[in-house]
Amino acid sequence: MRDRRVTVIGASGFLGRYVVRRLARQGAVIAAVSRRAGDAGYLKPMGDVGQIALIDGDIGQEDVIRAALADADGVVNCVGILWQRGAQSFERVHHQAAGRLAELAAAAGVGRMVHLSAIGADPGSPAAYARSKAAGEDAVRRAFPDAVILRPSIVFGPEDQFFNRFAEMARFLPLLPLLGGGATRLQPVYVGDVADAVVAALDGVGGATRLFELGGPQVLTFREAMELLLHEIGRRRMLVAVPAGLARLMAYIGEYLPEPPLTRDQLLLLERDNVVSAGMPGLPELGIAPTALELVLPTYLDRFRRPGALTTA
Ligand SMILES: NC(=O)c1ccc[n+]([C@@H]2O[C@H](COP(=O)([O-])OP(=O)(O)OC[C@H]3O[C@@H](n4cnc5c(N)ncnc54)[C@H](OP(=O)(O)O)[C@@H]3O)[C@@H](O)[C@H]2O)c1
Repeated sequence: MRDRRVTVIGASGFLGRYVVRRLARQGAVIAAVSRRAGDAGYLKPMGDVGQIALIDGDIGQEDVIRAALADADGVVNCVGILWQRGAQSFERVHHQAAGRLAELAAAAGVGRMVHLSAIGADPGSPAAYARSKAAGEDAVRRAFPDAVILRPSIVFGPEDQFFNRFAEMARFLPLLPLLGGGATRLQPVYVGDVADAVVAALDGVGGATRLFELGGPQVLTFREAMELLLHEIGRRRMLVAVPAGLARLMAYIGEYLPEPPLTRDQLLLLERDNVVSAGMPGLPELGIAPTALELVLPTYLDRFRRPGALTTA
């Protein structure tokens, strides 16, 4: 990896920053692209002076992307959105821009591409997010047939949008909503393991395999995830199954907020299990032993603990 040049698009995000840190540790020279490079200064100290270049740009800005890919040995696409707004549509960001990035990478002679998709990517999904992820995978494969596609389940870690969000709700609400009835099965995967998977894929560890589904060591229902969360933060809250119609109404109202806590599309996603499909290659095939939730949750959920509550071992 030493002296290898890697372009990371979406470097400022939750996963992107772990990818940058791992690549930097291995001595790669990194072009870190994000829409607000000025706010991504925290990436710089992850490498030596001059090792990480911050580049300001949208994934759809071809001139910026072309320049960022010049002389790159590898490219990682960590760009993703959870809800749509204006030009930030699933179709543009997950499908069209991902495909175009793959075309530009192929044209620039970039050796390896790793593209982040998601478990559940499916052209027949009722959720627009999942359909756009499937279309993005196809477009990337067409333009860059050797691209490695990684589909994580829900990713957890200090900056995650899942456990942090529900822990925050538990701080001021007397109950937690069991979305989708609470029975949907999840297989949360540690952000550090996903970043390791990206690096392993860049290194060609998976051999000829081009599609991996990444899940953690435990499969648990949404209800069990909430119970584990409440245990970690030492709070007792009622877990209430929200009727589908009410959940949709709450999501609809939430969509008007600057950062929607929940969208109707996310409710559709929660209707399907989010676990690694039987027989799919995953973390083990990339040489990674998945990290247990219980090892990591206490390291970042402590701030949500009830004052005076005993910490778990
Ligand atoms: N986190 C999960 O649980 C999870 C699960 C399955 C799959 N994934 C996938 O894994 C990837 C990384 O997810 P994440 O959790 O790290 O997401 P994240 O924290 O939201 O980061 C997404 C990154 O994409 C960037 N981005 C968004 N729109 C962009 C655009 N038009 N042009 C350039 N950059 C843009 C964001 O930067 P700015 O908005 O600051 O510009 C940010 O750096 C995504 O593809 C996501 O769909 C995540």
